[in-house]
Amino acid sequence: MTVTQYLADWRPYPFEITETRLDFDLAPRATRVRSQIDFRRKGAGDLVLDGAGLKTLSLAIDGRPLDPAQVAGERLVIPAADLPDAFTFSAEVEIDPEANTALEGLYLSGGMFCTQCEAEGFRHITWYPDRPDVMAPFRVTIRSDQPVLLSNGNPVSQAPGQAVWHDPWPKPAYLFALVAGALVAVPDSFTTLSGREVALNVWVRPGDQDRAGYAMESLIRSMKWDEEAYGREYDLDVFNIVAVDDFNMGAMENKGLNIFNSKLVLASAETATDGDYERIEGVIGHEYFHNWTGNRITCRDWFQLCLKEGLTVFRDQQFTSDMRSAAVKRIHDVQTLRARQFREDAGPLAHPPRPDHYQEINNFYTATVYEKGAEVIGMLKRLVGDQGYRRALDLYFDRHDGQACTIEDWIKVFEDATGRDLTQFKRWYTDAGTPRLTLSEDWQNGRLTLNFRQETAPTPGQPEKPPRVVPIALGLIGPNGDEVLPTTVLEMTEAEQSFHFDGLGARPVVSLLRGFSAPVTVAREIAADEQALLLAHDTDPYARWQAGHDLALDALIARATAGEGGAEFSRAIGGLLDDAEADPAFAALCLSLPGEEEIATTIAARGQIPDPDAIHAGREALARDIARAHEPALARLYEAMQTPGPYRPDAEGAARRSLRLACLGLLSRIDGAARAEALFAAASNMTERQGALECLIAAGKDEKALASFAQQFAGNRLVMDKWFMVQPLRAAPDRAVARARDLAARPDFDWKNPNRFRALIGGLTANHAAFHAADGSGYGFTVDWLMRLDPVNPQTTARMCSAFETWTRYDAGRQAHARAALNRLAAMPDLSRNTSEMVTRILA
Ligand code: PHE
Ligand code: ZN
Repeated sequence: MTVTQYLADWRPYPFEITETRLDFDLAPRATRVRSQIDFRRKGAGDLVLDGAGLKTLSLAIDGRPLDPAQVAGERLVIPAADLPDAFTFSAEVEIDPEANTALEGLYLSGGMFCTQCEAEGFRHITWYPDRPDVMAPFRVTIRSDQPVLLSNGNPVSQAPGQAVWHDPWPKPAYLFALVAGALVAVPDSFTTLSGREVALNVWVRPGDQDRAGYAMESLIRSMKWDEEAYGREYDLDVFNIVAVDDFNMGAMENKGLNIFNSKLVLASAETATDGDYERIEGVIGHEYFHNWTGNRITCRDWFQLCLKEGLTVFRDQQFTSDMRSAAVKRIHDVQTLRARQFREDAGPLAHPPRPDHYQEINNFYTATVYEKGAEVIGMLKRLVGDQGYRRALDLYFDRHDGQACTIEDWIKVFEDATGRDLTQFKRWYTDAGTPRLTLSEDWQNGRLTLNFRQETAPTPGQPEKPPRVVPIALGLIGPNGDEVLPTTVLEMTEAEQSFHFDGLGARPVVSLLRGFSAPVTVAREIAADEQALLLAHDTDPYARWQAGHDLALDALIARATAGEGGAEFSRAIGGLLDDAEADPAFAALCLSLPGEEEIATTIAARGQIPDPDAIHAGREALARDIARAHEPALARLYEAMQTPGPYRPDAEGAARRSLRLACLGLLSRIDGAARAEALFAAASNMTERQGALECLIAAGKDEKALASFAQQFAGNRLVMDKWFMVQPLRAAPDRAVARARDLAARPDFDWKNPNRFRALIGGLTANHAAFHAADGSGYGFTVDWLMRLDPVNPQTTARMCSAFETWTRYDAGRQAHARAALNRLAAMPDLSRNTSEMVTRILA
């Protein structure tokens, strides 16, 4: 039985809640939850409450008992005729946190109680209108013998065995949180713009305090940044962050009590990489920024998820750009968007940033809702300018504080603040698919004419794709490398449109889509020497990187399909290495060749069938050739990019280490991995240790290193997750599935822990040629494990099904294996609604 929810069916809830009071008696196998909810009628209709997996002990309206038999499945409906205009609904239910392996609602992680309620977890705690447009202040009493008892809002009273919390800010149930455990705090404080003292705590398990400092520093930077960049101040006396080991996602923005996957809190030089540090800072920022974009202003319904997520991702991207290097951040974001969102948009799971139907909302926490949702805001900002954006955001906070809103409300504040008509722009929210932008050029008598065409292929359920507003930022570079036209934004609104530039002396090269001004793919005729000119001289860092990236992709595709090519790219690398030291981060980005997945995607987009083995072999061969051609320069840089002194997780150090590891990756292909071996032994930080280990695994010289790593870090779950991940990810494709199988048989493969499961299975699915092994072994192994996990944790299982979203682009043999594996999953008895929706869409 699958039920589809439609946006068009949304109706306002006929009641408001003036206060929600909850009373918890915590016990692992039998927690009692007593609730009292003060309702007031707002419109016509029955009282409808959601509940799932609850043992209902009693129900009452104004103290008059109701027959618990009124419960029908996961709904409780009390007819309007039985209700006064204002009343208190009360319930007592019993739940079993220990049996909760799905990690939705109240569950146990390492002996501590914690909750996860987004999107629809609260209904696993008690009867409630579990929808985001019903907001209420909460008063929560927790009784437990656990030493630390936390919930949302401000503490009212704390005594041994009992704590009371009050959250004055009306919130939907998905932002509720409760934590009870033997935790220790890393404390600090923050004084807001208007002088409010806020007590800050990062709560971790005893022994982990020395790894929580960076999370705290990141929190303080986030609070300051949101005041400076958006004028947004924090609004409670306390802000708590808790790290938990068992968590389906990255982190959760519960009001005043953020709950984090411990991998996004805990870091030290010995245990975390530069990438980990950057993510911790970014996600701490993300969850904190939700306090205004998500919590104070929330979503009317789950179709509007990108209202909070797209905006909050956009804000955390701005934050990271300001804290680190804006150019590097932009390039990283484009890389992830292409790798995850373009791939989603091109396959059976394509959906718009604001979908209009779903079966299971948990399947829509996607790259499209998050990352494309952020890109759409970036386009809006470019179109209305920085000041227009600021006015629109001020209006948004002013007008909608305390409300549950829609994308229409969001667009309206931009229209009202700037006077612009955004009717056509709105298609970015409602239409799926990545537009393909084609450019052809005419050059005559000093006039350059640019002819653009946009087209978007049909996506599931959306055959017609009318043209969108595409902001095209571009510049012109003269043949001598000088910029003859600085960045200009063209606004394309038609399917075909031409623009011209007059009075040019010599034919320039177009530096197109500067800053990646729109989430589109580009098709254009450009010669390799013109790309090399852009790579050498473009003033826009993104466009410069893109030129080099295109050269690399062309070379890699030539290697994969014709077995040769790459001379221009190799020459360009030579030029780049000469002044790599001036900008190590940029050089590192250019030296890290596009991944196999992206090569496959590009081949498929050109209408050919990608061959994973040929792609892998071609990429290895090109990397070897580059290493041989530039060995002295690479070796010199490898030495020069050491970072002596104590490790600091800042952008400068990270840039040097990324260049060092990019050189190491190439050199390891020709030096018998000798340097990697030496670095692994000598490394004083996890960035270099893991980097060296990955080279050793790729070279097949990993036995000693893996053993010593496992011995050194056996007691650290997060570090051992890395150990489980890098092996299937970096092993040669013909050995990776067997390696994954061996690892899965180990007693410390604690597969019910989502981090551990994702490390091993996700490591394999990210090894392109291994996952897509011609004999189907990668698909088979993956599905075996998805079938095992589904009854335990449907959310994580369903999310990992997206590994299969590209299956139809491969050859008939691989397709047959993939289909068989997916059919096996689809036929599993009692398959969860989450996984069932994913498999059905993927197979459609
Ligand atoms: N709302 C969280 C975020 O993006 C993500 C999340 C969704 C976490 C669902 C848990 C469950 O910040
Ligand atoms: Zn978010």
